Amino acid sequence: MIDLSKLPSDLNPQLLPPHVAIIMDGNGRWATKKGLPRVAGHRQGARALKELLRCCKDWGIKALTVYAFSTENWRRPFAEVDFLLMLFEKLLKRELAQMHQEGVRVSFIGDLSALPESLQNQIERSQKETAQNQEIYFNVAVNYGSRNEITRVCHQIATKVQQGKLKLEEISESLISQHLYTANTPDPDLLIRTSGEMRLSNFLLWQLAYTEMYFTNILFPDFDRNAFYQALLDYQKRDRRFGKIAVSA
Ligand code: FPP
Repeated sequence: MIDLSKLPSDLNPQLLPPHVAIIMDGNGRWATKKGLPRVAGHRQGARALKELLRCCKDWGIKALTVYAFSTENWRRPFAEVDFLLMLFEKLLKRELAQMHQEGVRVSFIGDLSALPESLQNQIERSQKETAQNQEIYFNVAVNYGSRNEITRVCHQIATKVQQGKLKLEEISESLISQHLYTANTPDPDLLIRTSGEMRLSNFLLWQLAYTEMYFTNILFPDFDRNAFYQALLDYQKRDRRFGKIAVSA
């Protein structure tokens, strides 16, 4: 039996993905399968996320980015949307002190202006309080949509050109990256999506250009250390070439 409280010995600490992103899918199905209301799945998902964050920290992964609420999720029944927004706020309040103590830097990405004011205030407080922490960077995407993000960048850059503050020739990939919500964050190395769905659902389309993808049938509330270990084992077998040919070829 492997002791999963420490980095398993068959994982190479030199080859861990510095930045892991995850689409936490399957909360609703997990609850329905157990005859529970969908929101019970979100509650359990939050527990799984807390454990995943701790695991990343224990195993030396530097950044975890999670898709908590997409721009499309507003289309869900009002009661579920309301529950999710309240859950984010409650969790942030409840977990902030401990996350801070453990050196977690919390950041949010997405259009936060559409969120309830009390949640916006809690987000601001959490970001401010943990801004200097360096143990692990925890990025939460809320009201996030990649196309919306890229469109917003186009507007910002076009405005600068129109105002004469930027020349057309100065528009580059790195300039675009610097205007994304994820500016100054290296791109994810590994993307995990749970629940058997194999799509990106408008998540980090620009940032995932060279990311390794890992899909698992496990529903997010059941995604535990062992499941994460399996994902990392799989990742360590990949040959990341970034468009080049293999060294031995
Ligand atoms: C997708 O499952 C999950 C969500 C839309 C919500 C994820 C949120 C959490 C895990 C809480 C995290 C809290 C913080 C503070 C980040 P689904 O509802 O789409 O499941 P289904 O596909 O089975 O219906």
